[in-house]
Amino acid sequence: MGAAHFAAAGLAAGLAFSASTAMAAGDLNLICSADVVICEQMKDMFEKENPIKVNMVRLSSGETYAKIRVEARNPKTDVWWAGTGDPHLQAASENLTLEYKSPMLDQLQDWAKKQAESSGYKTVGVYAGALGWGYNTEIFKTKGYKEPKCWADLLDPSFKGEIQMANPNSSGTAYTALASLVQIMGEDKAFEYLGKLNANISQYTKSGSAPVKAAARGETAIGIVFMHDAVSQTAEGFPIKSIAPCEGTGYEIGSMSIVKGARNLENAKIWYDWALKADVQSHMKDAKSFQLPSNKSAEIPKEAPKFEDIKLIDYDFKTYGDPEKRKELLGRWDTQIGAKAN
Ligand code: G6P
Repeated sequence: MGAAHFAAAGLAAGLAFSASTAMAAGDLNLICSADVVICEQMKDMFEKENPIKVNMVRLSSGETYAKIRVEARNPKTDVWWAGTGDPHLQAASENLTLEYKSPMLDQLQDWAKKQAESSGYKTVGVYAGALGWGYNTEIFKTKGYKEPKCWADLLDPSFKGEIQMANPNSSGTAYTALASLVQIMGEDKAFEYLGKLNANISQYTKSGSAPVKAAARGETAIGIVFMHDAVSQTAEGFPIKSIAPCEGTGYEIGSMSIVKGARNLENAKIWYDWALKADVQSHMKDAKSFQLPSNKSAEIPKEAPKFEDIKLIDYDFKTYGDPEKRKELLGRWDTQIGAKAN
């Protein structure tokens, strides 16, 4: 083969490369607030399908909100994928995220579209999941504990030091728990409840799903988490049973936002549209991520907790995603609960 052939081949390859790089190339700085296994899977799938390198970090929802806020003048993140909707809504109200009307919006469930509309298209729903808890059936058997079916049951003194939940400042899961209890009981009663529950809590973790992972390993008996996070531990083979609280419970609309001032804006939009595709969302179950997908055509995992079997409250996302409300509730939690934590 002569040099000319090589040169021609090189030229053709160069042309092909520059054509695709003109469309999209370079990097995408992504914060992922779902579980690390699905975060890695999304990154790998995206990189296989697109000539874009994803620099991904996993941070809890509240932590991500705080980081984006601190970096507002000099954003280091392009896209924030997943995590509970409330801090995404707070970021939207504070103008930290960018309006984007994805051509994929029409393919989404109403709850996901509503999340976009109510934020002026600064965020969108990617999945939904209901809050509850998971408990370790072996520990329960050994210690003779009674199954806690209701929020009220978690106050049983026999559970002293046996429950974990996350800290609502860092974790969207725990903020969902706090806001759900406020909506179910009223604010003062909810704080009274959380004060009593504090006696049974051994640890407020940073990430939302950590409590049920600890329960799976036998380090605690109960973890207050999203029910799908409990189900994934069961699917991993751990002795975890998930519970939907009898008084009713709240839920999340896991969301996605583009950061205002994103340096890789075109790539951010490519990710955004891609993450809303049915086939991408259908693959979430491969990572044992059992939320309800937001694309109407995505496959609903058979393991996903069924919303029709859960007593769901009409969670008021507008109120509880509002900056003032979130600040107020977290401040009250810090002084009344966090400061007195064991
Ligand atoms: C888990 C759940 C997600 C949820 C996320 C929030 O990963 O599977 O559905 O959005 O927790 O994480 P955080 O650490 O903010 O509670």
